[in-house]
Amino acid sequence: MSQFARGLEGVIANETRLGDVRGQEGQLIYCGYEINELAGKVSFEEVVYLLWNNRLPKQTELTELKQQLAEERELPAQVIEFIKSSPRTALPIDVLRTAVSMLGLHDPSLLLDDSLAANQRRAIAILAKVSVIVAYFHRARNGLDLPKIRKDLGEAAHFLYLLDGSEPSPKKIETLDVAYVLHAEHGMNASTFSARVTISTLTDIYSAITSAIATLKGPLHGGANEGVIHMLQEIGDPKNVDAYVEKNLAEKKRIMGIGHRVYKVLDPRAPHLQRMAVELSSELGEAKWIAMSERIAAIMKEKKGLYANVDFYSATVYYSLGIPTDLFTPVFAISRTAGWTAHVLEQLSDNRLYRPLSKYVGETVGRKFVPIDQR
Ligand SMILES: CC(C)(COP(=O)(O)OP(=O)(O)OC[C@H]1O[C@@H](n2cnc3c(N)ncnc32)[C@H](O)[C@@H]1OP(=O)(O)O)[C@@H](O)C(=O)NCCC(=O)NCCS
Repeated sequence: MSQFARGLEGVIANETRLGDVRGQEGQLIYCGYEINELAGKVSFEEVVYLLWNNRLPKQTELTELKQQLAEERELPAQVIEFIKSSPRTALPIDVLRTAVSMLGLHDPSLLLDDSLAANQRRAIAILAKVSVIVAYFHRARNGLDLPKIRKDLGEAAHFLYLLDGSEPSPKKIETLDVAYVLHAEHGMNASTFSARVTISTLTDIYSAITSAIATLKGPLHGGANEGVIHMLQEIGDPKNVDAYVEKNLAEKKRIMGIGHRVYKVLDPRAPHLQRMAVELSSELGEAKWIAMSERIAAIMKEKKGLYANVDFYSATVYYSLGIPTDLFTPVFAISRTAGWTAHVLEQLSDNRLYRPLSKYVGETVGRKFVPIDQR
């Protein structure tokens, strides 16, 4: 007899060597490394290499990966046209989703070579391009020029350079790089599951990443960090926090950035983001954001036994970096493309089609057909 688990809670659907989320212990593991062992010590590109190869790179391997990513940054002309012609009001995450889908149209090898090596090359190409798509759309919708691709910058620095059209400060680069490291992989979350389900039909990697981005978009997943900023803006001042939280809890509304399906203790990524949020917001003179956040987190812990999740502080970090609110989820997507592509490659290396069952709760079987003129 198959067991029913709503939302697949507690169901183990596959084996992975990539990431482990230990909800009771508050641990996040990438290929055997606890996140605290990596955050602030390795670059995003090293994590990408780790996820794709199950080990950290040597210096020459890291240099090679960085070169490969830099070489793959140019977008097909048609994708640039699409970005420029998208409505200014379009959601950046939607533009990213559709542009990644378009990348598949412009990969001439797609129908000819479905080997693992070809998909590894595509993983590099997709990862290299996602940040360019996000930054270019942001520039285009504001009527700004699209800066020339550079090959001398790492992923975080290049994204910030494209976004602002100028050289980012080392502090900004370091902060975004750590945020990328923290968001790169997170076990069998909804978007990663989508990517694996999609690729398990043996469709192509562009389709799988498109599916993952579409899944990440929802407010219960990647969209929550935007919700955090809207909430902080609505609250406006630390003195309003208590009343706001109380009112929302009384109305059974969710406080964004709080709670997690798997972590029942503090999300291990949150303290890193909290530290960066404190540093950045005090530097930029916006300390009230942190004051409001800390008070919300304290009330939720006390009243509901719920902890801040990764989105809670990443929102303030991104905001302080000058990243527009509606780019938060796309920035999450840029980083998570590392995890998604690693999962797609892992799924392909030992594939089994996902095909769960559903529990039928419809009408009792035995209904008789009635012709349309007699219903
Ligand atoms: C992430 C999330 C969907 C996980 O939810 P879940 O595991 O399904 O938890 P449940 O929906 O079963 O909630 C359990 C209880 O905590 C409450 N709860 C959970 N998250 C809450 C939140 N953010 N605000 C207020 N109450 C919350 C629920 O109302 C429920 O309370 P009840 O037992 O009194 O009805 C949920 O915590 C949430 O919606 N958080 C806000 C969105 C967010 O930050 N998402 C990003 C996740 S990384």
